[in-house]
This record gives sequence, C-alpha cells and structure tokens, in this order.
Amino acid sequence: MTAPHDPLTLVVLTASVRDGRLGPTVADWFADRARARPELVVRTVDLRDFPLPVTLPEPGHEPPPETAAVRDELHDELARADAYAVVTPEYNHSFPASLKNVLDWFLTEWAAKPVGLVSYGGLAGGLRAVEHLRQVFAELHAVTVRETVSFHTAWDRFDTHGAALDPAADAAAKALLDQLHWWARALRTARQEHPYGS
Ligand SMILES: Cc1cc2nc3c(=O)[nH]c(=O)nc-3n(C[C@H](O)[C@H](O)[C@H](O)COP(=O)(O)O)c2cc1C
Repeated sequence: MTAPHDPLTLVVLTASVRDGRLGPTVADWFADRARARPELVVRTVDLRDFPLPVTLPEPGHEPPPETAAVRDELHDELARADAYAVVTPEYNHSFPASLKNVLDWFLTEWAAKPVGLVSYGGLAGGLRAVEHLRQVFAELHAVTVRETVSFHTAWDRFDTHGAALDPAADAAAKALLDQLHWWARALRTARQEHPYGS
C-alpha cells in the first residue's frame, strides 16, 4: 500500500527493436525530462531486451522455460508501473510489430493505468501510430492521455549528445508529464480503494 503522495513509478518503454534504431535516443531524452520531476520514479524498459516470440502460448499452457523467464521479467517491470510512457516510431502508418506483440502478451498489467505516447517518424511524426495505439490501449483497459510529444523527420531533431533541438519539445514533454502525473496519482488511489474489475 502506498500513501497518496508517495512517488509514482513511470515506465518509459522503447518500442522499436531494429538494428540502428533511433528509439533509444528519443526514449533517453524523454526519460531525462521525467527524472527531473521528484514526484516520479523512472524505470526504463527496452523491448529489445525482452525478446518474446510471436507464437503466444495457448491459454492455460506454459511457454518453454526460457520464454517464461523473459515473460516473467517483463511482467515484473510492467506490473510495478503507475504510468507508462510509450516511445514509438511509425512503421507503415502504424506502430511496430514489436510493440503489438508485447501488448498481446500482457493484459492486466496495463489496466486502469495512464499511458503517455511519445512518437517519432517521417512527416507525420508518428502520429498515425499514436492514434492506432489509443484504440489498442482502450481494449487493454488503459487510459491514453491527450497530450503527446512527437518528432517529425525525427532523425534531424536531436544533436550528437541526444538533446532535442527544438525547445518546443521540452514544453510538450512537460505538458505530457503533467497529465500523466495527474492520471497516475488519481488512478493509483482509485485502484487501491476499488481494485479494478472486482
Ligand atoms: C519498416 C519501416 C516502415 C516505416 N514506415 C513509416 C511510415 O509509414 N511513416 C513514417 O513517417 N515513417 C516511416 N518509417 C520511418 C521511421 O518512422 C523512422 O525511420 C524511425 O526512425 C524508425 O524508428 P526506429 O529508428 O526507432 O526503428 C518507417 C521505417 C521503417 C523501418
């Protein structure tokens, strides 16, 4: 049981897993903004570190031990979150398969928690991925917050040290973190008073 003003755990999740990806640059930049806020404890989850197969086990059946170990480790990371910031690129007008796979592996971990979406891509800044994710997270009983951070032509938006070049990105991150904080605190209290789904 946590007290209402105890810090909230924010999991910053890197969705892309391909070689040479930009994802960690964006995720590290956002995680640094979040770490500056004393009300948040920030944990990072890079999906490349959790290679779950797309062959989901049959309900009620256990996967092979090495897959179960990855699943359990990722479960622990996701379950402790009070809020998520999902850092996603746009692939073919949606979000990457690596992220969909993980969303399909888990269910209760996301429920009654807020999700902030940080996107990047070409001209659309990943916003088509964002809008698709709102539909999927609703199915998982999660709440996506209104504000977003998005980087269009993202490969030109960071310097060699990983700093965002446009000061508007900092303002967008602040607005997103403000909303995530509000929802995370409200929903943590609500989950404690009324366990979700019971
Ligand atoms: C398979 C693939 C599909 C892509 N499709 C789109 C797209 O539909 N729209 C877009 O704006 N950018 C698209 N891009 C560009 C990516 O958003 C951009 O390269 C981004 O850096 C990819 O994230 P990552 O480097 O973390 O993998 C695509 C990139 C890849 C690899």
